[in-house]
Amino acid sequence: MAFLGLMTNFAALTFCVLVLVTHNYQAQASTLVGKKNIQSSSNGLCASSVTIHGYKCQEYEVTTGAGYILSVQRIPEGRSQVSGNVTKKEPVVVQHGVLVDGSTWFMNSPEQNLPMILADNGFDVWVVNTRGTKFSRKHTSLDTSSEGYWAWSWDELVTDEMPAIFDFVSKNTGGQKINYVGHSLGTLVALASMAEGRWTKDNVKSVALLSPIAYLTRMTTPIGAIAARTLLAEGYTFLGIPEFDLKAYPILEFFKGVCANPGVNCDDLFTAATGENCCLQQSTFNQFMEVEPQSSSTRNMFHLAQTVRSDTLTKFDFFRPDLNMLHYGQLFPPEYDLTKIPKDIPIFMSYGGKDALSDVADVKKLLRYFENHDANKLSVQFIANYAHADYMMAYNAKDLVYNNVTSFFKRQW
Ligand SMILES: *[C@@H]1O[C@H](CO)[C@@H](O)[C@H](O)[C@H]1NC(C)=O
Ligand SMILES: *[C@@H]1O[C@H](CO)[C@@H](O)[C@H](O)[C@H]1NC(C)=O
Repeated sequence: MAFLGLMTNFAALTFCVLVLVTHNYQAQASTLVGKKNIQSSSNGLCASSVTIHGYKCQEYEVTTGAGYILSVQRIPEGRSQVSGNVTKKEPVVVQHGVLVDGSTWFMNSPEQNLPMILADNGFDVWVVNTRGTKFSRKHTSLDTSSEGYWAWSWDELVTDEMPAIFDFVSKNTGGQKINYVGHSLGTLVALASMAEGRWTKDNVKSVALLSPIAYLTRMTTPIGAIAARTLLAEGYTFLGIPEFDLKAYPILEFFKGVCANPGVNCDDLFTAATGENCCLQQSTFNQFMEVEPQSSSTRNMFHLAQTVRSDTLTKFDFFRPDLNMLHYGQLFPPEYDLTKIPKDIPIFMSYGGKDALSDVADVKKLLRYFENHDANKLSVQFIANYAHADYMMAYNAKDLVYNNVTSFFKRQW
């Protein structure tokens, strides 16, 4: 039985990976095109979530080297700022996690949400919407109905998306170094970027990691573990479904299957997936459920599932030696070497005791890589009753987390 399962597993993966690969990589381009285009923004995030609160907001489109056109919102200053203040403000890039978009940051009031708190503290704030989410579904040549559009995992967010964002923000803020706040997958992208030497003291000012994820093997949430196992085992059913959309038929069916497993209670899928969040207001949560979840690529979910199953952090595994050889010049996907993270980059980290995705044991493993970090450049916070979503939209996140982030950033001024 086990053998049969293994065979099915292998065949499925091979098949799936084959398909993924066939339609792959034609979108890779090498030059970085930071295209600026201020839209008439009647239906973007600025209009729906920012300007209504009296903040200035500008809509931008950033085109990555591979042709993805990303929607980015800039809040250049705080609400009370006198216009014409020429003081050069430091930019902060704010990056959401997987299966959500930039709008999650705005679920709470201006006094409670991270981008506006940063703006009110004198920062020039840039909110990113990752490729594939509601406002970032354009591409220079590919349509979201094509497989090519979805041929990426978080590896490409490291190699293509973040470089384009950093380049764009830096160019539009007088060549300044970037401050970065990432949540969940946004922390993984940051850690990988630092491990690869893409982020150094030369282009990065400070990095804040909320609900950091790098290792996922100790994740206790049954839904995550079983979803990862099922996704890897049944990958073939996703043939021709390169877009991972939780709201659409095939992926919904997949989760019904996951929920049928003993020990998985999907009555409250949100809690099952993120943990017992202590501090979400009902109205905030309702608003969240109106716009989320957002799409990601099935390949990205595969890559995360591989991370759940393996205790090393590697690039996407094509599960075929020849394909890995083709892409990486070696039989197995290269590892992200977290020991290479520069010891002198100021890093703030905050993790919660109830987080189902960013499990305490996994974070402890991650923290071992920071034992030799410059002591005055590292600040680690543990909040016993916080879970994954509290970091995005808890009513008390300002007092517990965001104030610490802003004061950490300011200490590096
Ligand atoms: C200009 O900006 C700086 C830094 O954000 C602030 O301290 C100062 O009060 C501002 N000046 C005016 C006139 O708003
Ligand atoms: C966070 O802020 C609280 C309250 O100001 C403070 O007591 C705590 O030391 C801070 N923690 C970190 C890691 O900055």
